Amino acid sequence: MIKLPGLIDPHVHVREPGQTHKEDWDSATQAALAGGVTTILAMPNTQPPIFDKTTLNLALDAAKQKARCDYGQFLGAGPDNANVLPALADKAAGLKMYLDSTFGELRLDDMTLWMPHFINFPKSAPIVLHSESRTMAAGILFAAIYDRPVHIAHVSLKEEILLIKAAKEKGIKVTCEVCPHHLFLTAESPSPSGGGARRRTELVEVGEGESSGRCEVRPRLATQEDVEALWQNMDVIDCFATDHAPHTIEEKDSDNPPPGFPGLETLLPLLLTAVDDGPFGTAQGRLLTIDDLIQKSVINPRRIFHLPEQPETWIEVDESAEYEIKAANQFTRCGWTPFEGWKVKGRVRRVVLRGKTAFEDGKILAEAGFGKNIRKV
Ligand code: NCD
Ligand code: ZN
Repeated sequence: MIKLPGLIDPHVHVREPGQTHKEDWDSATQAALAGGVTTILAMPNTQPPIFDKTTLNLALDAAKQKARCDYGQFLGAGPDNANVLPALADKAAGLKMYLDSTFGELRLDDMTLWMPHFINFPKSAPIVLHSESRTMAAGILFAAIYDRPVHIAHVSLKEEILLIKAAKEKGIKVTCEVCPHHLFLTAESPSPSGGGARRRTELVEVGEGESSGRCEVRPRLATQEDVEALWQNMDVIDCFATDHAPHTIEEKDSDNPPPGFPGLETLLPLLLTAVDDGPFGTAQGRLLTIDDLIQKSVINPRRIFHLPEQPETWIEVDESAEYEIKAANQFTRCGWTPFEGWKVKGRVRRVVLRGKTAFEDGKILAEAGFGKNIRKV
């Protein structure tokens, strides 16, 4: 049994308000605890989006009633709210800016809309960018010009991780996160040798008929070369984040599948298995240590998002327990996982949150409402 600090996931789509058939503050925080995550930071692309005082209170009120682990709530940058957000910064996890299209309505595609947010939002509070490829380069340039920190969400490409590395070397205040699905899955067509390719085939096959809706995710799954570049630049990655983005199995298998994967309950076992064996099927040896995992899932997110130390918060993990990932055993409401059937090592046995056993042997013990807003501690 190993004891680790409670994990922090800085990128979770809770879906409440507005889409609670996919997930809500109760089911998302149960999934978090089952995955060894004791703090989640919730994204603002809900319905309505979280973009002012009223909508922030809507999310925080629901969280206060239902959350079973600790949490923060991001604000969303819109075309006309750059003046109202700074006053809310103290109550929020930070500001999320969608610079590329994805699920939801928050995209800002004109750079004149980015500027007031970079100018107004307090430099002491984090700005997180959904930005891919050249948009990410533009986001880093904004960080340099306005001399303020930015955090790049879900890095997936070789060109992205290499540019972030170069930007850090120049002293630009940029940090980044990578999701397990971009470390373990690729979009490459099936080939006999590539481990990642084999996995993509499995992902297609678990869907019904010809549907590949389950593969849909933003950023898209990338190539084997991209995946390898992420592993090879592990020291450039500041945080692991799930981008837990639940959509129901019916929605994923429909003609118009929304992008997004659930991830809260698979983060830790996937990473622990990689600590033990190296990345699945890539035969790259051990590129990840337990110390890296603690650094990227606890210490760095705590620093980047200015989260409080949490005494009396830890998880106990049976690192030798081997099992198959199964959606049927998960607490997320979405009913599927892209890692169905994967054999992993490492089971969360117990989660202690602020001195109370919140999860033990498959059972959620923390009550709804036990979770605290990390901005109020
Ligand atoms: C996210 C969602 O469903 O809210 N989808 C996704 O593919 N990651 C939105 C996002 O984070 O881009
Ligand atoms: Zn997301």
